[in-house]
Formats: sequence, C-alpha cells, structure tokens
Amino acid sequence: MTTASALETLASPQAGHPEWLWRSGDLVPWEQAAVHVNAVGHASVAAVFEGVKAYLAADGERLLVFRLDDHLRRLADSARLCRLSLPHPADELHRAVVDLLTLNGYREDTYLRPWAFPRGIIREQMVPSGAVCEVIIDSWPFRSALDTERGCRAAVSSWLRVGEHSAPPRAKAFSNYHNGRLALMEARENGHDWPVMLNERHKVSEGAGACLALVRDGVAVTPSLTSGVLPGITRDTALVLLRDLGIPVEEREVDRTELYLADEIFFMGTAWEVLPVTTIDGLTVRDGTPGPVTRALSRAYGRLVRGEDDRHPQWITEVPLS
Ligand SMILES: Cc1ncc(COP(=O)(O)O)c(C=O)c1O
Repeated sequence: MTTASALETLASPQAGHPEWLWRSGDLVPWEQAAVHVNAVGHASVAAVFEGVKAYLAADGERLLVFRLDDHLRRLADSARLCRLSLPHPADELHRAVVDLLTLNGYREDTYLRPWAFPRGIIREQMVPSGAVCEVIIDSWPFRSALDTERGCRAAVSSWLRVGEHSAPPRAKAFSNYHNGRLALMEARENGHDWPVMLNERHKVSEGAGACLALVRDGVAVTPSLTSGVLPGITRDTALVLLRDLGIPVEEREVDRTELYLADEIFFMGTAWEVLPVTTIDGLTVRDGTPGPVTRALSRAYGRLVRGEDDRHPQWITEVPLS
C-alpha cells in the first residue's frame, strides 16, 4: 500500500519546472520570473494561494480542470480575509490557467498553483491593509493516486488548528501552513503519517492539508464548516457524491473519540484526493484496509475528474490537448 510520503513525492514539483508561468497578466518564461531578494520576508507571510488539478480525460483527448472557478473564488475570499488587493478578476485568471496549460503543452495530470503576494519591497512588519498583489500561476505534472491501493496512519495532534480567535481558518494563506507543518512534524516524529487537528473547542477540525470524514453505521460524518476547516472543494464534492451514492451525510461537530469508533476514516483534498486512514492514534480502523464507502467515493471521484460522469458539467473546464 502506498504510504503518505510516497504521496508527497507524487505531488512534488521537484521533478522539473514548466517552460512558462503566468505572472500578473503576462505569460513569462520560467527563468525570467524573478523577484528581488528583499521581496521575500514579510510579504510572504501575507501571501495566499490555491491548489487546482487538471486531469487527463479518460478519452485521452482533453485536460479537465476540476472546479477551477470555485478555486478562483476561494482565492478571492482568501485575499479578502487577508486584506489583500487582487488586481486580476476571476475570468482573467480562468483564461490564464487555460492558456498556461496549452502553452506548456501538458498531456498528463497537472497541478496548478495560483498564488498572490504583496507587490514590491515590503519592509514593514505589518503588510499594509489593501496591499496590491502580484499573481503567479505555477504548474507541474502530478500522478493521480486514485487507482492506487493506499492508506495512511493518522494521529491527533497536540497543536490546535488555527481558529477564528487567531487567524482566519477559511483563508488558504501560506502563514496558516506553519500550523499544519508543526502538526505534521509531530506526527512524523511519533511514527505516524499525517496529523488530525482539533479546533479551539477540542472538536475535530481537519488534517494538515485536507479535510476529514468518518463513517459509522453507514453514515458519513464530516466536521461542519464552523469547525475551523478550510472550506474544502474536495469535501464539498465528496458530500455531493456520497449523497449521489445514497450514503447519508452529516456535517456537524465531531468528537475526538468518534474517530476511535469509526468504521472508516478518510482525508479529502485536491492534492490528496480521497486518502484512506488505516490507523488513528495507533488503533486500526476496520481491518486496516479502505472500507466500502471510502472505496465507492474514491471510484466516483475518479470517474468525475476524468470526465466519465457528466452529471456535474459546471465543475469541469475542458482544455483541448495542444
Ligand atoms: C488546510 C487545508 N484544508 C483542506 C484542504 C482541502 O481543500 P481542497 O479540497 O479544496 O483542496 C486543503 C487543500 O487545499 C488545505 O490546505
């Protein structure tokens, strides 16, 4: 079974770089996309981003960008929550993604990262409210793990997920990821793959880069959006697919001990897709293999992102192969 670290390798940009990036309105060669060294620092703390995937369609003839407009909407939401000004409207960014996929000539599953950071040299510790951003769109190939038998060992972290009392959990802000990073390092040091974070009320929130759900007695349960989670687009997709599959779904507060009694647990995220949890705090979930609901959801998600399920056409942006 593939482990979590293999998952990271599959999604890693280390393998190379694209020929072209999109930068603040222009398609620019990778080598020319430089910033002054002094632009790194406080500006990075205020940066926001998205993670989007384009899947090669099952017919091998098109790339299908999954829920692009929802990701761009969340990018705008993140900028608003962090009081940044994005000078590019969503339709321009939508076209930029399509142009970039075409120009780079991708013919395989591709990960896209639109991100925004305050423009210029910012020496102030407190990046001013309304700071105008540069927007970059990076991309790299990834291999989907949807057809792979895999699982991960998860553990509840002693680090609480950033909450409404400290930093906006609904923002996909780089600064929030230090929180998940600390939890991840703790999990790895203790022999697990991924952390599960509790919120400030000590209810289950989410993973370090993915939402979470459990299944008990045939009902799928996921922490509500007021549990300190990023409003996950995969989470939202999974809720629709589970209902399509006839599986009842609950969005509510989830206790830590519900995880220990669950028949199935899985993470959900753009990068992670549907990742089964095989142990939680050392307790084996089911028999340590993915359960029927996780498998059915994973199959349905795979069919959807590869264009084999035409019930949700509004979620797919088609890009012909160049
Ligand atoms: C902290 C966090 N939670 C949840 C998710 C899952 O969100 P999505 O399904 O939109 O990728 C992500 C990934 O973007 C994330 O970084």
